[in-house]
Amino acid sequence: MAPQLRVFVPPHPLIQHWLGVARDGSTPSTLFRSAMAELGRWLTYEATREWLPTLETTVATPLGPCAATFVNPDVPVVIVPILRAGLALMEGAQALLPLASVYHVGFVRNEETLEASCYLNKLPDKLPPESRVLISEPMLATGGTIMALMQDLIQRGADPAYIRIISVVTAPVALQKLADTYPTLNIYAAAIDEGLDNQGYIVPGLGDAGDRTFGT
Ligand code: URA
Repeated sequence: MAPQLRVFVPPHPLIQHWLGVARDGSTPSTLFRSAMAELGRWLTYEATREWLPTLETTVATPLGPCAATFVNPDVPVVIVPILRAGLALMEGAQALLPLASVYHVGFVRNEETLEASCYLNKLPDKLPPESRVLISEPMLATGGTIMALMQDLIQRGADPAYIRIISVVTAPVALQKLADTYPTLNIYAAAIDEGLDNQGYIVPGLGDAGDRTFGT
């Protein structure tokens, strides 16, 4: 039996709304960027549930002592946006995780072979295994880029159980590759679409997320 996909598609009206705006081919670049930032915010909100490490303590309210829970500042929290389009989601992610370190990576896809190759890698040599790693990748299409990045993160010490991916539109082929190799990985997506066209674009998808974000 194929491993079960740990893909969460939160049934949230704001996620559905901004997904509709992003999918609409007539949405101009400025509004597209806002939609992606909002999707980044709400998907991060969902993804950080039961993932951000907390610590229990006591505070003194004006009326007396009270139990309190805080985000544990000693566990590294890391955001990894995949250039270019990952930057669009990151704005919303960073608003919720202002203290996270941001390590950029850039991949480009060969239009003929659809193979991904890395042209920028700002990841640190070592990541403590307890690091919480949030990958920002709006389009999970063939899975080539995300599989290469996952392997790199794990080589640097990251634990797949603490890695979460936020994505806007995903294709079953990428999700299946991830599930087969990383059964403890969790993905938070706005949609799972039907499949890919012969150029590796997600159908119906939203087109080229990088071009639409940057108006190119
Ligand atoms: N990258 C995109 O920007 N769009 C797709 O549909 C697939 C990959």
